[in-house]
Amino acid sequence: ISSSPDHAASPAVKPIQGMSKGLTNYGDKGFSLFLRKAFIKGAGYTDGALARPVIGIANTGSAYNPCHGNMPQLIEAVKRGIMLAGGLPMDFPTISLHESFSQPTSMYLRNLMSMDTEEMIRAQPMDAVVLIGGCDKTVPAQLMGAASSGIPAIQLITGSMLTGSHRGERVGACTDCRRYWGKFRAQEVDAAEIEEVNAQLVASVGTCSVMGTASTMACLAEALGMTVAGGASPPAVTADRMRVAEETGAQAVRMARQGLGIDQILTAKAFENAMRVLLAIGGSTNGIIHLTAIAGRMGFAVDLPALDRMGRETPVLLNLKPSGEHYMEDFHHAGGMATLLRELKPLLHLDAMTVSGRTLGEEIEAAGPGFAQDVVRPMSRPIYPQGGIAVLSGNLAPEGAIIKQSAADPQLMEHVGRAVVFENSADLANRIDDPDLDVTADDILVLKNIGPKGAAMPEAGYLPIPLKLARAGVKDMVRISDGRMSGTAFGTIVLHVTPEAAIGGPLAWVQNGDQIRLSVKNRELTLLVSDAELQQRRAAQNVTPPSAERGYRKLYLQSVLQADKGVDFDFLMPASPSGVVPKNK
Ligand code: FES
Ligand code: MG
Repeated sequence: ISSSPDHAASPAVKPIQGMSKGLTNYGDKGFSLFLRKAFIKGAGYTDGALARPVIGIANTGSAYNPCHGNMPQLIEAVKRGIMLAGGLPMDFPTISLHESFSQPTSMYLRNLMSMDTEEMIRAQPMDAVVLIGGCDKTVPAQLMGAASSGIPAIQLITGSMLTGSHRGERVGACTDCRRYWGKFRAQEVDAAEIEEVNAQLVASVGTCSVMGTASTMACLAEALGMTVAGGASPPAVTADRMRVAEETGAQAVRMARQGLGIDQILTAKAFENAMRVLLAIGGSTNGIIHLTAIAGRMGFAVDLPALDRMGRETPVLLNLKPSGEHYMEDFHHAGGMATLLRELKPLLHLDAMTVSGRTLGEEIEAAGPGFAQDVVRPMSRPIYPQGGIAVLSGNLAPEGAIIKQSAADPQLMEHVGRAVVFENSADLANRIDDPDLDVTADDILVLKNIGPKGAAMPEAGYLPIPLKLARAGVKDMVRISDGRMSGTAFGTIVLHVTPEAAIGGPLAWVQNGDQIRLSVKNRELTLLVSDAELQQRRAAQNVTPPSAERGYRKLYLQSVLQADKGVDFDFLMPASPSGVVPKNK
């Protein structure tokens, strides 16, 4: 394949590009190609255009997805990059998922989006694909789908939103959304002011401006080597973001020419690098689930205890909300991922390959020496001495649970308390604000049945502080569930308790008044009830895991795996696993 336009236009060029690949089977290959050419010529393409490498662009623009509101400009820039590098851009739509507009949860739909992405990449002729995503579930879904499709792929992030201002205070989604709603519930902010701040929290299109799941996945995508260098941090509306888009398009053409496949990039080393970065950025707890799912598609199992051991030697360096104080645009001004990766260098596999065809180490070198800034701390002066996420286990979570220790209250991380149990989200909604609820600030709030099968794992693990306690000034309590929480949330919150209550996990056996011990220091989550009593409760239980009669919901409930397997579908994982990450160290 040649990049010379003359050569590309020459009829002597053999049809080795995407347009002639994997032809629809009419039983006559020549006729199939003839038809395909007729239709594409009907769209006004010349032979010269068709002789170029075909680069698919997964377009996830949607009126329902403001986080992808810059999609038209991004696609234009990607196309420019592809054409400058001698390729032919072909954008195509896939499902788009926004956190606030996806019922019952965006998590329920992530695997559907990954299947859509994988199958459209497979079905349509292309030599490489540019994946454009940003909002929480879209980047993991695209990486999962591309990993399974196996063709050269490159991720383009839509970019973060700008921050807004409320009465002189800088605000951004969604840590400040939660903070203000908490103030409103505590009657510290009135109805007029909560309405006023509502118009300032999302100041532009783009993804949430703190280190929520979207920013986390952007950083992980770059750490995995799946974006161009510097691809994680530019805000959505900046010239930097558009230049990244142009460069991404151009790089996709080079990847197609070089045959730089996704299997050369998504290696065990790449996943270990991403885990280091997840720990060092104080990243979203959802990042573990998504990384596990992406790794799973490449045949790797994620070893949670080993991740925890990595966490003990990987401090949080990034000073972003909710663990710290800054926003994504500040991270970008501080040099973005290059600044962070430079600090983390001793802990990274520098020989991991990236989409640029250079190693991660080479990209860090190319980014230069760095400069004075206060968003990324040096190893000697971390935000938090350990990784942001700790992995817990014990009789309440035999297959593990996690806590974002960097965003938790140090006073509560060693705590024994009385369980106040809610059977499901509806029960919680009915009783949490009841003035007669028997609850004190020292109790532990337990919410059951919000796991992968129980409720498609909503971000409901951030249980509200009971109204009467909130009004008395209580800001944090220990909360435990089998659900998730938003990456923008904070508090002493134990999540992803596995196995979940809905399939009869020990969480289902907890009763009001039981004592529970949380020790983050010892990585322990224990239900302080005798084994004999627990056996009795288990025997008395009659668990029928949820099921459905038809449609995607039926497929979901039949196939969804637990949190420690990334909440992927069993049939989407490769038949034979190829390894475990991180390596046991
Ligand atoms: Fe899309 Fe937060 S809602 S990134
Ligand atoms: Mg979120």
